Amino acid sequence: GGPVELDLSKVAPGQQVILRWRSRPVFVTHRTPDAVQKLKDPALLSLLADPQSSELQQPPYVQNWHRSIKPEFGVVVGICTHLGCIPLFEPQPNPTSPAANWPGGYFCPCHGSKYDLAGRVYHGVPAPYNLPVPPHHFPNDKMLRVG
Ligand code: FES
Repeated sequence: GGPVELDLSKVAPGQQVILRWRSRPVFVTHRTPDAVQKLKDPALLSLLADPQSSELQQPPYVQNWHRSIKPEFGVVVGICTHLGCIPLFEPQPNPTSPAANWPGGYFCPCHGSKYDLAGRVYHGVPAPYNLPVPPHHFPNDKMLRVG
């Protein structure tokens, strides 16, 4: 398939929309200002295996501290880098989750891998690297195009 588009007004702050691109799920998250700030919190960075994404699972134009073009919008391929399950969106710490006591992000129910809201993998989980960022751009202020 070709590129897919999303009207960004359909993603409220704090919410996620899942697009389908080349038969893969793509997570588009609208990060709140708090969530954006958290991405550079040293306490969070110390929990991540590759906080600078130096393994390069992203295009060069998102090689930055928020792994995105606009800090408030995250775009990642939603396939766990361990064995390919689809991680769950848990933006807030969730006491009922098997991943209780973590800052929140994406949690893979298959074998417990955890990622932050920029798709960066935590230390000590089976997933070997960060969720990839697909090629994408914003043709205008209201639209995202993936692919
Ligand atoms: Fe996600 Fe194994 S497939 S942790």
